Order: sequence, then structure tokens, then C-alpha cells
Amino acid sequence: MSSSATQNRSSRTPLIAGNWKMNLDHLQAVATVQKLHWTLKDAGHETGSVQVAVFPPFTDIRSVQTLIDADKIPFELGAQDLSAYDSGAYTGEVSGAFLAKLGVGLVIIGHSERRAYHHEGDDVVGAKVKAALKHGLTPVICVGETAEDLERFGGSAVPVSQLEKALEGVPASADIVVAYEPVWAIGSGQAATPAQAQEVAAALRGVLARVLDDDAAARTRILYGGSVKSSNIASFMREPDVDGALVGGASLVVDEFAAIVRYQKHVGV
Ligand code: PGA
Repeated sequence: MSSSATQNRSSRTPLIAGNWKMNLDHLQAVATVQKLHWTLKDAGHETGSVQVAVFPPFTDIRSVQTLIDADKIPFELGAQDLSAYDSGAYTGEVSGAFLAKLGVGLVIIGHSERRAYHHEGDDVVGAKVKAALKHGLTPVICVGETAEDLERFGGSAVPVSQLEKALEGVPASADIVVAYEPVWAIGSGQAATPAQAQEVAAALRGVLARVLDDDAAARTRILYGGSVKSSNIASFMREPDVDGALVGGASLVVDEFAAIVRYQKHVGV
């Protein structure tokens, strides 16, 4: 990795992304987004200093999009998955074309829950990354090691290999986000240490430089995910290669998620 990649941290707008997983129906989604917007506004949160994204279930997306458009709410809208295919006989799947038409800008790909419960391997992840880019969506490529991987290979080896495979055939100019999510830290209450997150994030930035180019490495945001909360977010954001967070459980609690978005203020980073 060129050292310029790390030094360019200031050019990367921090991204705090809420992955709601299979929680909140469309009415609860609308109420949650409205409350988050007002909570941040009341707290004087400066729009633009941190980019906020929500990833509701598919059934909520239309309602959330309508609300965001009508009230000019400055949140990015994301989806939790997409099909590798454009259209056709794929029962239950959702095309990136449909998501793009609904104003979705980001899509999570390769979340460990999809890799584990839906047996999505590196080939499927790679195909979905290409499908997202084809439809103008920014893939949020999730990588991370299990507790067993950590013990056997250390923290970086598995995420590095997953990212290398996900980036095969991706042009250096592509707009992507990478999320480092150690599987053992997701939903466990036991987050990685900031030093662990930094070590892997730096290795992933090295992959971006090697497989894409130095500019992609300097420009691309790398998030940490896994038991992020308001009490630990600032310690991650102090690390030079961590540009934001992918937040699961804590994104469902509006005051907690708002406090995570406001990490600069409430902990003074
Ligand atoms: P968590 O989930 O914040 O509940 O650990 C993170 C994720 O799975 O993206």
C-alpha cells in the first residue's frame, strides 16, 4: 500500500450505515427514519460532515424512499442484497435494476449472514458486485473472518482473500465501499479492538491499491462492523484506515444510532 492512501483520510467522508437486517416493517421504517432525522436535526448535526445510510428490508424501501424524497431527508438509501441477474425466472430474487429505479444507491453484498445461511461463496459475491455496478449501485462489500479463521490464520488473511476475489474484473474507477466485519464480533457484544480493525483495514486498503490502483485505495471507504455502539464508535473512527461503520443491532435504536452518527460531538474525536 502506498502511504498516501492512509494520509488521504480527510478526503473520505465518514459513512455511518445502519443495517436493519430483518427488522422493522414499512410503517416502523417510516417512523424510524423520521425520528432519526429529527433527532439529528434537534442535536444540530451538520449534514455532510458524516454520511448516513439506512438499509431497510426490501418491503420497506418504497416507503422510505417516498419519505426521504418528500421531506428532503439527507440519508442514503441502501438495500441488504440483490440478485446477480437482471431479470427472469429467479423466484424471490430482487434485481439491481429495480433497486436503482427506487432511488437505492448502496447495496450490501456478501454479508456474513448471507455467506453462512444462504451459502453465498466468493463466486456469487463477485457476480453480485458486478451486477450492482452495472446498475449504478455502490456495492458495500462485506468481508470478515470467523473465530476459527482468526485462530488459525490471524485477522487479515481471510478478509484479504475475500476482497481480492470480490474485486476480480472490477474496474479501478468503480465506486465501492468495503466493510470489514469479523464474524465473531457481529451481534456478539464483543467488538474487535480498534487496533485489530485498523490492522485489517490497512491490509484491505493494500488490496485496493494492488488489485485496483492507488487512487482507488485512497478514495474508497472502509467501514468496521461488529457490535458497534455509541460507546466504542469514536475509538474506531480514530484509526486512520477506518472510515465509518456498518451498524446492525444499534441501528434499530434511534437515539443510539444518532449518537453513533454524532461520534465527533459526543466523544470529541
Ligand atoms: P451488529 O451487526 O452491529 O449487530 O454486530 C453488524 C452487521 O452485521 O452488519
